[in-house]
Amino acid sequence: MPAQRYTLQLKRKGFELVKVCFVTAKDEKIMAEGQQGANLLELGQAAGMPLEGTCEGQMACSTCHVVIGSEWFDKLSPASAEEEDMLDLAAGVSAGSRLSCQIELTDALDGIEVHIPDVWRDMQID
Ligand code: FES
Repeated sequence: MPAQRYTLQLKRKGFELVKVCFVTAKDEKIMAEGQQGANLLELGQAAGMPLEGTCEGQMACSTCHVVIGSEWFDKLSPASAEEEDMLDLAAGVSAGSRLSCQIELTDALDGIEVHIPDVWRDMQID
């Protein structure tokens, strides 16, 4: 679903929205708004980001890997041990790496910058 249509649907339903700036591997900035309580993976997919999310949030893939802007990283809940283990399998991991399926959109994250890695691993093919 295109990001604008997704946002319009949420606004019509009266949801509190959280703004997210996705930065693509080509350094393009894509602004999107998601419903509080939704996860970052859902919003990224709605915004057209290449986040496969193969396991649909079950922490069994790492195809939802993103890199959080450094000024935002400390505002996130810490990653669980299971998430850290899955990140070990992700390609292009850096200090700001997280699994987008594990990040819940809250008002504290309004304006967060999320970078899409230029390398990723499809767990179904590897
Ligand atoms: S969607 Fe598989 S770990 Fe996030």
